[in-house]
Amino acid sequence: MSGFNTVILFSFGVLGNGDIVYYTTNSVTGGVHTTLASGGTYVGGASLASKVQSFKSTPGTGIDRVEISMSSSGTAFQNASALLRRDGTGPETVLSRNFAALRTAWNLDAFNNDDESVYDVASTVRLAELLGYPAGANFSHYTAAPYTNMRFWAAVLRSASSSARLPPGFFDRVYLQEYDGGAGNDPGAWQTALAPGPNKDSNEAVHLVPILWVTNDAKPSQGSTPAQAETQFRRWAKSSSSHPGVAGGGYWNDYDIEKMKSSYSAYGNVLLAAFL
Ligand SMILES: *[C@@H]1O[C@H](CO)[C@@H](O)[C@H](O)[C@H]1NC(C)=O
Ligand SMILES: *[C@@H]1O[C@H](CO)[C@@H](O)[C@H](O)[C@H]1NC(C)=O
Repeated sequence: MSGFNTVILFSFGVLGNGDIVYYTTNSVTGGVHTTLASGGTYVGGASLASKVQSFKSTPGTGIDRVEISMSSSGTAFQNASALLRRDGTGPETVLSRNFAALRTAWNLDAFNNDDESVYDVASTVRLAELLGYPAGANFSHYTAAPYTNMRFWAAVLRSASSSARLPPGFFDRVYLQEYDGGAGNDPGAWQTALAPGPNKDSNEAVHLVPILWVTNDAKPSQGSTPAQAETQFRRWAKSSSSHPGVAGGGYWNDYDIEKMKSSYSAYGNVLLAAFL
């Protein structure tokens, strides 16, 4: 057991023609690294596909969920909404076929929406419908990675929960940034705001997963050592009369773990200690 059960790959974008691309490490402005799907076909190569598949298929990893994250630092969301306006949300559209091809090639489970600037409820839910099950690209889940704007995500949840195109609980996790611009976030307050809808169907609850930044040299004051992370996660895991406890915890990002020669198992063991 590693303590990790989910991998989120960062970051992806959509070009004007519907191509899905993977950016160079840590930067949309650094440009496209690889085109992954084009014209409804996976074009990212067999070695990348087997690498991503290995996260789940290698015995003993404990990983049962792999997500791709789309960032708003470029114009991916604008490109996606223009395509949604032009073509709609059906499985025959080039955008849906590209996402379905990538999902199949990589055996993906969820799409992570890291919108930090556009904040349009209607196109956010339409994108979920295009990705959804069983009438879209058949992703199992849709998630968010906000640092702010609780009201926007609560509105997305209400709208997604009432969409006839989406199964209950399709939008199921919020990975809440707890460093830098999101350092003051109260996970309990978010959990309360994203509680089940009026019919109290617990399948409609979004699970809150606070995310800490590991030790890093980009903004050292925003980093958490494993010991610091354990203190925070233990606090957030507890329920109180005013706040439900969170569902789990996670980290941004593996690049810094490698660069700072930190220990994956030390960070993973914190999750076992705090949440199991
Ligand atoms: C949006 O599409 C345009 C045209 O294809 C492209 O130049 C731009 O890089 C795309 N945005 C992102 C974030 O990939
Ligand atoms: C999604 O799943 C449904 C139900 O199994 C199936 O009919 C449909 O063809 C699938 N679509 C894609 C794009 O895989």
